[in-house]
Amino acid sequence: KVYNDYFFDEPIFDLHDGGYIPLERADVKDQPLNIPSVIKPDKVDGNDVYYTITAQEGETQILPGKKTKTWGYNASLLGQTIIFKQGVHYHIHLVNKLPEVTTFHWHGLNVTGPVVDGGPHAPVYSNGSRDIDFTLDQPAQTDWLHPHPCPNTARQVWNGLAAAVVVTDDEEAKLPFPRNYGVDDIPVILQDRSYHDNQLDYKADYDVDGTLGKYALVNGTINGVFNVTTQRVRLRMLNGSDRREWRLHFDDNHEFTQIASDGGTLPEPVKFTKLMLTCAERAEVIVDFGDKKPGDVVTLMTDDMPIMKFKIGEFAKDDTKLPEHLTTIDAPKVTPGLPVTRTVMSGMDDQVRLDGKLFDMQRIDRKQKVGDTVLWDVVNTNDMDGGMIHPFHMHGCQFLVLSRNGKEPYPNEHGWKDTVGVNAGETVRIAVQFTKFGVYMYHCHILEHEDTGMMAQIEAYDPNHEHKYHLISMDEM
Ligand code: C2O
Ligand code: CU
Ligand code: CU
Repeated sequence: KVYNDYFFDEPIFDLHDGGYIPLERADVKDQPLNIPSVIKPDKVDGNDVYYTITAQEGETQILPGKKTKTWGYNASLLGQTIIFKQGVHYHIHLVNKLPEVTTFHWHGLNVTGPVVDGGPHAPVYSNGSRDIDFTLDQPAQTDWLHPHPCPNTARQVWNGLAAAVVVTDDEEAKLPFPRNYGVDDIPVILQDRSYHDNQLDYKADYDVDGTLGKYALVNGTINGVFNVTTQRVRLRMLNGSDRREWRLHFDDNHEFTQIASDGGTLPEPVKFTKLMLTCAERAEVIVDFGDKKPGDVVTLMTDDMPIMKFKIGEFAKDDTKLPEHLTTIDAPKVTPGLPVTRTVMSGMDDQVRLDGKLFDMQRIDRKQKVGDTVLWDVVNTNDMDGGMIHPFHMHGCQFLVLSRNGKEPYPNEHGWKDTVGVNAGETVRIAVQFTKFGVYMYHCHILEHEDTGMMAQIEAYDPNHEHKYHLISMDEM
């Protein structure tokens, strides 16, 4: 079966928003797609691997003419790709060379909050550093590193901070997926930006309901071209935009197969011609270009706008078929006797709220016992002017989507996720388990909503392990 549907509610797509900025074709020649290089460790000592990650300022040639001042991780824009392996102990030296405070948030990594996971309680001041370490104990997946300082996440991401994080493991390594980074396995970081005399100007483009840009960028490249040298290509798609939803399809309606969602491999591959990603969601897809010949060009689109091109070259025949069953999701049993946690996203513009409140860095909004599996009803009550989709994200866990308004989740929602788009008037039921005690954020991932305060924090507690958290205040940022 091939799905030809975006599934989400069309009347509330971002393009119906009052502040919607349609994408425009940029007057930029086709150019090679940027493939971020892979960060090299400082040191490998048995199972201990050491990295330095520096948030830095730089300049990037994005448009013809003057270079654009941009921010990145060990790079002038976005960041070098970080490849982690399950079971390895990582030591990371985080360095801030930016002129202001930032944090280093590992979106999707199951590491402890509120410090190691790099939420707002883990500031790294300008010219300062912080050392963290963790054992990577989760399956293969595509995650990302981005800043999370309260309330400047949106602007810092807009300036360029976002790096792909690839997690590998031995089980995924046995599956017949392309995995030669940069050749048949590439990140596709989807973003939109506007430029003013070739420079970013967040203030000028700011929209409290989510900032949109005029031009589509993939990995920081406008009109990027990727040279296809293998029949099958794996795209690690990441919506790294502040606000924009991406409704992806190819110009020739070429089919593609999703093999993984946020938290890793799907139980079954899902075939699509259309895929929508809300902010911060990831989808790994395999595109089989076996029906193409050298010289052909296939264009990736969002709505009616081209985003990037795949230029088909010579390749060896590779008719590898994916197995019908990819992995088994060990769904944890819901802990009996516990009430359903209900959390409500409401409002638009500066009226956005989570459970009727604005974020307070020193308030713990909820508690959940480590190891318990609790049903959460994530509700989007927002129906002003038709409403909008809020992408709901949780730190410190990967959850399972059980239902949407009591109905089956979408066909590509049968794997682990950490971000789920919730339609207006919809209740998405998820199963949530924390495995590590700590304090974790949960929030809308439209970055301007998060910065406005559509965010709260939960303490995952272990009754045998009392822990006092130092929750800093906004003034300490
Ligand atoms: Cu990707 Cu709390 O964020
Ligand atoms: Cu996160
Ligand atoms: Cu929102």
